[in-house]
Order: sequence, then C-alpha cells, then structure tokens
Amino acid sequence: MPHTYILGIESSCDETAAAVVRSGEEIVSNVVFSQISTHVPYGGVVPELASREHLRVIVPVVRKALADAGQTYQTIDALAVTQGPGLAGSLLVGISYAKALGFALDKPLIAVNHLEGHIHAVLLEERQKGNHDVNFPVLALVVSGGHTHLYLAEQRAEGWSYDNIGHTRDDAAGEAFDKVAKLLGLGYPGGPIIDKLSVHGDATAVKFPPSQIKHRDRRVRSKSIEKIAAEEKDRPRFDFSYSGIKTAVLRYVELHEMQRAIDARKQALAAIGKPTIEDYLAHCDKQTLDLVASFQRAMVEDLVGKTLAAARAYDVATLFVTGGVAANNELRQRFERDAAMEGVPVYFPSRPLSTDNAAMIAAAAYPKLVAKDFSPQDFSAEAGLALSGPL
Ligand code: KG4
Ligand code: ZN
Repeated sequence: MPHTYILGIESSCDETAAAVVRSGEEIVSNVVFSQISTHVPYGGVVPELASREHLRVIVPVVRKALADAGQTYQTIDALAVTQGPGLAGSLLVGISYAKALGFALDKPLIAVNHLEGHIHAVLLEERQKGNHDVNFPVLALVVSGGHTHLYLAEQRAEGWSYDNIGHTRDDAAGEAFDKVAKLLGLGYPGGPIIDKLSVHGDATAVKFPPSQIKHRDRRVRSKSIEKIAAEEKDRPRFDFSYSGIKTAVLRYVELHEMQRAIDARKQALAAIGKPTIEDYLAHCDKQTLDLVASFQRAMVEDLVGKTLAAARAYDVATLFVTGGVAANNELRQRFERDAAMEGVPVYFPSRPLSTDNAAMIAAAAYPKLVAKDFSPQDFSAEAGLALSGPL
C-alpha cells in the first residue's frame, strides 16, 4: 500500500491541535496550541472560554500542521477528528471544521475516540522507533485530567478491540493533582508543578490511607449487587477513587493551620506572573513540600499497584501508560521498576505525546482508513463517548 497522509484534528478540552501522520507510523507534523494561560486565572478549564479559543485558533493551527508537513489540503488522504469524550462545545469546533473541510475537499472523514487516541500515541511512537513487536494483549492505563481508565487492547483482523476493566468512580487522577495544587495555592495545572516540587519533599512524611472504594459505582446503579458480584467473579474490575485523598489533603491543611501561608503564596506567585521552580521553592516551606511529595507518592502507589494487579489477573503481555499524568516522573520510574520485577514490558509516550495532541488522533484513524471505516457526515460530538464498557 502506498504511503497515506492523515490530517488529525483534536479539540476535546483545552488544547487546539492538528497533526499529519504518515501511514500510522511517522509523525510528519504536530502542532499544539495550549490554552493554559487563558484558564490559569480561573484555576481550571472554563468550557465557554475553551470553545472560543478553539474557534479563534483552529484555522491557523491546521494550516501550520499542513505547512510543517509539506502537505496541502489537496494532498492529504483523509481527515481524522476527535468525536469524544470531552467538552461538547470544544469538540464541536473541531468536528464542524473537519466536516466542512471533508465536504469541500471530498476527502474521507474518520471520527476517533479520544481515549483510543491516547492508546495509539504509544504505538505510534514505538513504530516510529522501529519497534513493530508489541505483544498482545496490552493493558493500557489512560490517566489524565478527565480519565483514569484501564483497557485490555487487542489488534484483531477486523480492527482494534478495547475492553474496559477499570475506571475511576469519582475524580480522575489528573483532576486530583489539579485540585490539590489549587488548594495549596500552587496554580493550574497542578500535575507538572507537583511533579517538580515532590523531589524536594519527604514522601514518607504524611501517611495517606490507601484509597478505599466504599461507594457503589454511580454509573451502574441500575444493576443489583448480586449481578455485579457474579459478573466480577469471572472478570475482576480494578476501579480507582481519588476524591478521598483530595479531602485528606484539605483536612491536613486545616489541622495544621496552613491556610494563611497558602493565601500568601497564592498572592506572591500571582504577582510574579510566570513563576519558575525557584520561585515556587522560595514560597513553599518544608511542611508543604513534604505534603506534596507524600500526596504524589500515594497517587503513584495506587495507580501502579492497581494496574499491576490487573496485569497479573488478566495475564497481559505488555503495559501502556498514557495520558497527561503519564508525564509524571515518579510514576514512570515506579512503573519501570515494578513492571520489570513482574517481567512485563511497559511503554510510555514521549512527554509531548502524553498530553493531548492530534498526532495520536491521526494514528488511531489509520487502521480505520485501511478498513475504509469512514464516518457519515451527520455524526456529532459525544461528550461522554465510551471506548467500551461503562465510562
Ligand atoms: O491528557 P491531558 O493533556 O488532558 C486530558 O485529556 O485530561 O492531561 C492533562 C492532565 C492535567 O490534570 C495535568 O495536571 C496532568 O495531566 N499532568 C500531570 C503532569 N503533566 C500533566 N500530572 C502529573 N504529573 C505531570 N508531570
Ligand atoms: Zn486527553
């Protein structure tokens, strides 16, 4: 088969991204416009502002991706766009633009699940490095600001299959990083700064109880407890829960009367504008650094522990760890060490491909292009789109 070029478009949250990928294995261009500075003053993504920013930059972002790739609207073979999950208004910007382009250029359009994109980010880079020997089944941990999901992924003759064997019952792991950073006056997004500060604290200083799943999954309330137990006997689930640890950090802050210092730090960092790590360190006392390091350690231990337990239960051949939180240094080191002890190879995307991007969307679309699995012109955004099983 001759080389094919897919133009990918991603606008599910706060990154407007476009990329060109050749034959599902070579990134030819990858443009990401991050809206972080727009949302920083609000301490989180504001959906209405996100949609407006996508509208403002989508055309130049797509043009740059084509120009960087030495391609034109006419020379690409297909368009791929994120259908969901994500913010409905944001998704619609990418989808409407991709549909208009597809219609005007008479090119096939492929709708892609964002979570499938994160999984394919790993494969894309492995193929780019010349590694075509990933063994199946793969267990993929997709861990980001919106998701904490475990999927068994397999490549079959008829295409890819994904089986959800675990998800968060409340907050996503990245959401917990962001909320804890916000409540400690460390700004947004929380993951990267907690990652950098943690090496300066004592991760054994604060003991967080292991996360316990006491509440039933709100998404499966219609099923009886007996039915769930019977289903789980043959197919054990590995769910996560991160709202408890966020509350535990808040309790610690209250108990140790840290609020005044937090307010002062917030003000000082806001006055600096774009603080460096040295600025953060200058405004964090030992107690705060120890708390941050202990929080990260507890998150990492839970994520690695549950994922490896699932890997054993399902006897998987390979592990993928992907999504924004996969950029975390301690998470990577811990996975590398513990997975090696279990004898399971673990792959991560490079840091730019861990967070949201469009190369992963174009890569996930490639098997669909080969199978001519195109989307009708009337498909729409699906904010809660499931990859498989309940979200
Ligand atoms: O995949 P992503 O860009 O967007 C979503 O699909 O959610 O992930 C963003 C999330 C944010 O919650 C951010 O705090 C977290 O990933 N994140 C990190 C790190 N870098 C980004 N969390 C922990 N450590 C990091 N180094
Ligand atoms: Zn994502």
